[in-house]
Amino acid sequence: MTTPAVRIAAAVGGAVLSAGAVALTSRVVLTRQAALARERIGKPLGELALDADRLWRRSYAGEPVRLVMLGDSLAAGLGAERRKDTLGGRLARGLAKRARRPVRLRTGAVVGAESATLPDQIAALGDDAAADVAVIVVGGNDVTHRIPPGDAARSLADAVEALRSRGCAVVVGTCPDLGALRPVPQPLRSFASRASRALADAQETAARAAGARVVSLRRAVGPVFVDRPDEMFSLDRFHPSALGYRRTADALLPAVFAALDDATAARMLARADVVRLAESMTTDPTPDSWRRTDAYLTATLVTPDPDLDAALADQRAAGLPAIEVSPLSAKLLQLLIRIGGVRRVLEIGTLGGFSTIAMARALPGGGRLLTIEAEPRNAEVARTSIARAGVDDRVEVRVGRGADVLPDVDEEFDLVFIDADKESNTIYLDHAARLTRPGAIVVVDNVVRAGRVSDPATEDEQVAGTRRGLEMLARDPRFDATALQTLDLKGWDGVAIALRVDPAS
Ligand code: DHB
Ligand code: MG
Repeated sequence: MTTPAVRIAAAVGGAVLSAGAVALTSRVVLTRQAALARERIGKPLGELALDADRLWRRSYAGEPVRLVMLGDSLAAGLGAERRKDTLGGRLARGLAKRARRPVRLRTGAVVGAESATLPDQIAALGDDAAADVAVIVVGGNDVTHRIPPGDAARSLADAVEALRSRGCAVVVGTCPDLGALRPVPQPLRSFASRASRALADAQETAARAAGARVVSLRRAVGPVFVDRPDEMFSLDRFHPSALGYRRTADALLPAVFAALDDATAARMLARADVVRLAESMTTDPTPDSWRRTDAYLTATLVTPDPDLDAALADQRAAGLPAIEVSPLSAKLLQLLIRIGGVRRVLEIGTLGGFSTIAMARALPGGGRLLTIEAEPRNAEVARTSIARAGVDDRVEVRVGRGADVLPDVDEEFDLVFIDADKESNTIYLDHAARLTRPGAIVVVDNVVRAGRVSDPATEDEQVAGTRRGLEMLARDPRFDATALQTLDLKGWDGVAIALRVDPAS
């Protein structure tokens, strides 16, 4: 950040003027204060950060992780006296250690940069912008240059999207609290503090919406910079010291490491041919149009079943959540049973028995369905409905958490339907593989979750569990799988369908 104090004064001057009454006097005071701050801070560091771009930790085996630093002097590491103490150097070393891979660092950050220059920084990187992870720290100069927070945040979001479209995951460290800068006198410092907080909030919202992981530097490291300025700041009392960068890197590192996984997802999303196809569809579904269509398809293709209707009515009356499979999905399960010649079904997650009854109906004479339900109350509601539907001869409801009950299950199934707590999907899939032979079918419900499954920024544990399940289906040699997105009365979700295969063939 160049000549910070003068710019803070300009920014604050503007704010005060627009605030009205005390404008003129304040402006004079603040301009004097800015001159003072500028004198105090000086430029002992110059405007060039150390060049830390290199392959870090080359002793690790494996393909290097490509890490890019974008933004201002913080991202460039100005103030550090050894290249390993720059923010990029610190992050590269920390990431290498966690990922057990070498890290190739490429710095596009520019001392003094505002958010609007991020596209230039990305362009200057050329092909290197298609890295695995980019870290952006920017904002201080937007505050001192009086850029409206909304504009600065939009530039940041555009940069996040541009990087993600190249398959690069993004971590944003939001604007630090400029109120931590002791050399800036009061009340100038308070104004700067307030403006930097407003920008940080706008950045957080915009960057997250654009798919970045966000770390609030104000919250993560602000307090230690305020409490221990002599240690945290470098010679110029404005940029971090080696220790300050270390604390900042420690705050960013977990998000950077997690973002490595995002990079794989982002690369899938970047497939230009798919994006173009989606854009050529002129009519996007609206909730009205897709619910109408779901009702039409249901009315056209699904024969009404009074026992299923009664099961739903009981379930609603008992206050169970309305998360049973849609009628069209129940019909899909029935068809899979018939197509696959399925005789024995294992269901994990009974709820009120809607899917249980539907599947039991599709079984041939002598068929069997074991369903597992964690909630005793749900199981009770389900048992009543199952008996009323007349399928209790082939259905057994077992009460208990899947993870507790399944280890004691030791019989073979031809179809497994997994529709319980999503966090445990990999456990359920492992049991499904154990209890089936090649040729069996495994269905997993709710694999899209309103698109959150492909959103790298989501921190929902259920979505994380769903993703782990899909990745297991992809990786585990006992499965071969696909997934379909669904838009129905339950909204936007999806179902995975897997074939149990012989790992040896
Ligand atoms: C939820 C669970 C489901 O199995 C489902 O189909 C829909 C929603 C849920 O827990 O929110
Ligand atoms: Mg479900």
